[in-house]
Amino acid sequence: RGLFTSAMTLSQLGVSHVPQRYVLPPSQRPNPTTKYCPSANLPIVDLSSLQHPTLRPNVIHEIRMASKELGFFQVINHGIPHSVINHAMEAATEFFNLPIEEKMLLFSDYTHEPVRYGTSLNHVVDQVHYWRDFVKHYSHPISDWIHLWPSNPPTYKEKMGNYTKAIHVLQKQLMGLVFESLGLNPNYLEQEVENGAQVLAVNCYPPCPQPELTLGIPPHSDYGSLTILLQSCPGLQVMDSNKNWVSVPAIEGALIVQLGDQMEVMSNGQYKGVVHRATVNMANQRFSIASLHSLALSKKIGPAPQLVDEQHPKAYEEFSFQDFLDFISRNDIMKGRFIDTVK
Ligand code: SIN
Ligand code: FE2
Repeated sequence: RGLFTSAMTLSQLGVSHVPQRYVLPPSQRPNPTTKYCPSANLPIVDLSSLQHPTLRPNVIHEIRMASKELGFFQVINHGIPHSVINHAMEAATEFFNLPIEEKMLLFSDYTHEPVRYGTSLNHVVDQVHYWRDFVKHYSHPISDWIHLWPSNPPTYKEKMGNYTKAIHVLQKQLMGLVFESLGLNPNYLEQEVENGAQVLAVNCYPPCPQPELTLGIPPHSDYGSLTILLQSCPGLQVMDSNKNWVSVPAIEGALIVQLGDQMEVMSNGQYKGVVHRATVNMANQRFSIASLHSLALSKKIGPAPQLVDEQHPKAYEEFSFQDFLDFISRNDIMKGRFIDTVK
């Protein structure tokens, strides 16, 4: 415990078994216990239809349905050029393929560190370890943080910076659409959305000799308002309304949108913060880039008043997520649920 060995190092050493600390209790292992659904039928929203006045209402409707049922959808034709997305994946790949000594320059087990390289969730405290290495950094406003980001590979800041800025713009648009699909003004809490936090979690899941015994990330929902996720190959699974795990296909050029707990609260429970997890595999090194957006953690958030009436009583009291996260870490409940927070 406390000794740092990254999942990548184990993978590079060519271990034929995962060390005992990675082995999940049988009920939490990825395959045999849960009914496995083929990945059909997950919603894909074509944002180019927003430009057509007759198709626009369909887009809003699709977002509403997906948000109610799953809290999850993928978007295509979102306006972010393929080159920006590909460059971000390149930067991620090059970073993790650096020698371990280079990555260790950014190592910290202090969860408040604005830039942090690590393995598992927090390898110092994790009872069970997860087959994942990550680098995580604060990202908005970018000028406050970019000087702290990895300076190797030398193109990291530029490539990841362009991606981060484009994703922040898309995030504002998506928040507006989600609010509109709830019947709210698309500009609802506009200032808070603009000034909220953005944390980029860049994940690497090396090939794993026993993917059936472990996970890359355990089941959780994201604590914020909305997450935009990019995956290099399949591995993400979301829980559907029947509590089945569904694999999310990797669609070239698509971006994954996941609603988080803040959105569930603002929608007065109409929308779900999607529970998801990452599986690992034997063949591929998998990368994902999660851009986690949240309204200022100090702001008290409650259900939008317009969504509360006699038929729909307030399902949540107003609270600040900072207080919530502090409460959780103090009481040690739902440990591991909030994974990529600004904790
Ligand atoms: C993934 O790697 O697909 C999921 C990462 C996350 O939950 O942040
Ligand atoms: Fe997540």
